[in-house]
Formats: sequence, structure tokens, C-alpha cells
Amino acid sequence: MSKLVERLIRPEIQKLDAYQVPDATGLIKLDAMENPYTWPEGLRHEWLEALQTVQLNRYPDPRGNQLRAVLRASMGIPDAMGLLLGNGSDELIQMLALAVARPGCKVLSLDPGFVMYRIIALFAGMEYAGVPLRAEDYSLDLPALLAATKREQPAVIFIAYPNNPTGNLFDADAVVRIIEAAPGLVVLDEAYAPFTDHSFLPRLGDWPNLLVMRTLSKMGLAGLRLGYLSGPAEILTEIDKTRLPYNIGVLTQASAAFALGYREVLDEQTQRIRAERSRLFTALSGLDGVHPYPSETNFILLRVPAGRAGEIFAFLKRSGVLVKNLDATQTLLEDCLRVTVGRPEENDAFLAALASTL
Ligand SMILES: Cc1ncc(COP(=O)(O)O)c(C=O)c1O
Repeated sequence: MSKLVERLIRPEIQKLDAYQVPDATGLIKLDAMENPYTWPEGLRHEWLEALQTVQLNRYPDPRGNQLRAVLRASMGIPDAMGLLLGNGSDELIQMLALAVARPGCKVLSLDPGFVMYRIIALFAGMEYAGVPLRAEDYSLDLPALLAATKREQPAVIFIAYPNNPTGNLFDADAVVRIIEAAPGLVVLDEAYAPFTDHSFLPRLGDWPNLLVMRTLSKMGLAGLRLGYLSGPAEILTEIDKTRLPYNIGVLTQASAAFALGYREVLDEQTQRIRAERSRLFTALSGLDGVHPYPSETNFILLRVPAGRAGEIFAFLKRSGVLVKNLDATQTLLEDCLRVTVGRPEENDAFLAALASTL
């Protein structure tokens, strides 16, 4: 490492590995929680027609007013609540962190959980405290979380609802206890909202510190990069100040507004994914030595025979299927792989390859 890097770059950044996205060329891609379906031909044409009126020479609407109105109507966001758009929900996590970060200030979340809460806390110079989930079923350990909340006095608590990478939904009453005990903001990250029937969105406004964050990524628009954050307007007005100007490009604004006009197409795809999820779960449950965990998301976490996760991951890849190997990434995820629910034939290829290596 050069002297310049050593002298200039913060030690915690030097220690960090850059976010890794494996090359999936030629593979069945079941590693990133994407929706596997594209749009019908007619709809693609109509979308391209709509894009013809977009003016690339002009800056985008800075606050995405038209898109925000479409989102409010489409998602049922209460009128009284503020609404902020991000370049993916990752950017919203960063805006939140930048707005609250001060020396010694903490982010609290659950482990295993979504890694960006920890990484973005570090970017913003905040400390991260992770409270372990219960080892047997990844449920929320409420006494431990309440104790940590009291001890750490976090400025923000992130709870993925349902959780990534475990796929389960935490007990709603326990979540309420946390919201009520928290000295700061509680962000319920509902990235997987399309795949569960539970949400805190209708309860926005019941507590002054509750925010709900979502994304269009998992409902089939990952390429657009659009996340949204809703909650009490007085808080969002402040967080909005950390947003870079024009953070949502014209093509994303126009395409997202167009796509939300065809919610029924996206919803039908979501239903297909849900049906495939239960078929995949049943099939995995029938495999000797494999333990799938119940999921309210578009992926399934599975435990494979002890010590074999790396070898099974590599075999699946050689067989043309890319999943995520979580073994050794976080405590409590030993021997675990995560598979995204794909199209039926993709899931069949995954199941066949997995069965043949067991
Ligand atoms: C819980 C959770 N939150 C947020 C995100 C990020 O979503 P986006 O694509 O909107 O940045 C993910 C992505 O996997 C996730 O699992």
C-alpha cells in the first residue's frame, strides 16, 4: 500500500472490502433477489414510446413530484406523511446516516441482517451495534434488543421487515415495543413488502419516530434504482437536506411512473414468485440434509450439511447456477446458502443440481 493511501484514507475504509458483485455471465442468476420476469412485448413498446418525450438535455425534476404522486397513490402512502426518493434504498440509508451522524453516535440493527446498515454507518463515521437474532429460528430476541437499545442509545435502529438474509418476518408486537423504547428513529425496511401480507406502512404517524423504507427493486425494477422513505414530514424535511441534487434521473422517474401505471403486471409476477417460493420450499424440505427456513421474501435461506456449503456452492456454479454463499459471512450463518426464487425452470435446475451433490 502506498504511503499516500496509508496517510490519507481512513483506516476503517482501508480495511473494508469493496462491495462484491460476482460475474453471472452464462449462469442462472439466483443470487441477488431479483424478479426473474421481463415485461410482455407490447408493454415494452409502450414504455419506449413514453420515453420519447423525456428530455435528456434538462435536469430532472429535483424532488420527483410527479413520480411521488404516482407512488403515493399506488402504495397507499398516507397524505399526511412525507415521502423521499433515493437512488435505491441504499441511498436513503446513507441520507439517514448523514443526517444524524455526530461523534459517538450509533446505528443499531440485528445480525444476521442487511449488510449496508453496518457499512453505511461506517462511511458516515458512526458506530454500529448488532444484536444477534435467536440461533434456532432467527426470531427477534426482544429482551436483548431492548437492553441494547437502552445501553447504546442509538440514533437510528434499522429493522428489515421481513429480514434479509434470513427471510423471516419479526413479531409485530415486538417491533412495536422497540419503536416505543427507542430514543431515536426506527426505520422499518420493507424491501420485501411485495412478498408478505404484513406492513407498518398503514401505521405511519402512530409514533413520531417511525419511518418506513421501501424499494421498487424487488417488485421487478431493480435496474431503475428507486427507493422511497416515508414518515413524519418534519423528520423527512431534515433528511432531505442531505440528498444530492437531482438524485433520481429523468429515465428512472419516467420509467417508474410508467411501470406503476401497470401495477397489475408487476403484481401478477409477484404472485407467481410467491407460488414458486412455496413449491421450492416444499422441494427443499424433502432433500436429505437440507434445512430451508420459512420465507416471506423472494428468496430462501437454507442450511446444508455441516462443512459442505463452499463445496456445494462451487458445484452449483459449475452446474450453471449462481446462488449466494453466506457461510462464514456472519455468525449464525454457518453452512448457509441463500437462493433467490427464479422462474420454474431455473428453480428446477437449481434443485436438480443440489440434489445431485448431496
Ligand atoms: C433489506 C434490504 N434493504 C434494502 C435493500 C437495497 O435495495 P435497493 O435495491 O433499493 O438499494 C436490500 C437489497 O437486497 C435489502 O435486502
